[in-house]
Amino acid sequence: MKKSIFKVIFVAILALGTVAPIATLATHYTSTQVEKSVNLENTILQTIDSDSMFNNIKFLSKSPRVAGTEQEDDAVAYIKKNFESYGYKTEVQAFTFTDYTAPHTIKLSIDRFTKSLDPQALEYSISGQVSGEIVTAGLGKVEELQYLNLTGKIALLERGEISFNDKMSNVIAKGAVGVIFYNNVPGIIMGSLGEVNKALVPAVLLTEAEGDELVKHINKKPITHASITIKGSKSQKNISHNVIATKMPTSNLKQVNKSSKIDKDIIVISAHHDSVAGAPGANDNASGAAMTLELSRVMKNIPSETEIRFITFGAEEFGLLGSTHYVANLTKDEISRISANFNLDMVGSKDAGELILQTADGKQNLVTQQAQAASTKLNGEPTPVNQGDRSDHVPFANVGIPSALFIHNPAEPWYHKPEDKIDKISKEKLQDVAEIVSIALWNQIRIDHQVK
Ligand code: BES
Ligand code: ZN
Repeated sequence: MKKSIFKVIFVAILALGTVAPIATLATHYTSTQVEKSVNLENTILQTIDSDSMFNNIKFLSKSPRVAGTEQEDDAVAYIKKNFESYGYKTEVQAFTFTDYTAPHTIKLSIDRFTKSLDPQALEYSISGQVSGEIVTAGLGKVEELQYLNLTGKIALLERGEISFNDKMSNVIAKGAVGVIFYNNVPGIIMGSLGEVNKALVPAVLLTEAEGDELVKHINKKPITHASITIKGSKSQKNISHNVIATKMPTSNLKQVNKSSKIDKDIIVISAHHDSVAGAPGANDNASGAAMTLELSRVMKNIPSETEIRFITFGAEEFGLLGSTHYVANLTKDEISRISANFNLDMVGSKDAGELILQTADGKQNLVTQQAQAASTKLNGEPTPVNQGDRSDHVPFANVGIPSALFIHNPAEPWYHKPEDKIDKISKEKLQDVAEIVSIALWNQIRIDHQVK
């Protein structure tokens, strides 16, 4: 209620053309300039079409879009075609990644050991069958292994102090053919070997209680053999893609003050287009991809001396891989020219909470400031900011680019579930977020270039 009254007043003020775009810069504008700029803001708001976003989400969420699959390729082709239909030049940036499949069979048998064990695989454990004498090797630190010969043996290692990966490399260097890890605190954890390539011997993970029992057993019977069997795990090289549409500077706006040449003249609007397996990802994240398309459509004919890059990333769900690849391939000059990254992820669920902005360090930055100014103008209150590092804004933050994630909080119960379908999407939420982002973007563009 509050929101809609506020909107009516805002639009009425816009129509009268009496509001200076931003108080601090008001002195740079003549009244005609202000009017033009306000009219453009109005045009942007009027052009946003939640039906267009809804229809694109509907198309994209017909099936899951797991990175590296044909369904991702279809989504990439669809996004590219749409960008091009608005008149943009596009680039499809391919990158490789390793796709790991967890094992279906994990067995550990130990001579004369009667207690039952429930060995777990670690992420990136390789398949294989090994057997040998078990040797307790402490935490697996180099100095502990100095006088041990592990050739052909299975190392029993406690969790702690150094990574599973380092422990494994250390015992492999001493000749170990397999590893049994055990936890150093009660409870079950999902251990990871960190990377695919370094996991060179079969390994299992036990609980702290199981580990303690095994150590006792070995102390009583110093020569104990074990055998480890892991089947079904595999690593595959795969290819995913980012889709990049660039709005080149229109340069038909004259700067008021030529000497005030700006050095930050690129803004990135982004969203990932991939989903997890088994989830059609209407909200996560066909919603963000469709909003990126919509913002590009809306901005198409808006004059801007700032270059705007509209990007959908692949393989976010495998660890922010598309955005990491994109940022890693920017030149130093490009990094220094990007003033902001607006990242849209899960922006349209009926069943999620209110919009929030998340930054990697939890602090305000240019993106959150512009978004708060826009949301205050549009809805009467600033969108809250908190810390969050679960999406593609993070690689931008890591190289010092002001970035923020736009997301509804708390997340809907269908997050990463088969129910994340088009029937869960709210056009009102899409409209609200798109308005906030577009006004924040427009304010940044006209500050950068002192729109005439
Ligand atoms: N859209 C989610 C991120 C998210 C979900 C943020 C709910 C806040 C609340 C994203 O696609 C995702 O699932 N990210 C992964 C992490 C990523 C590094 C693989 C996650 O959060 O598990
Ligand atoms: Zn997501």
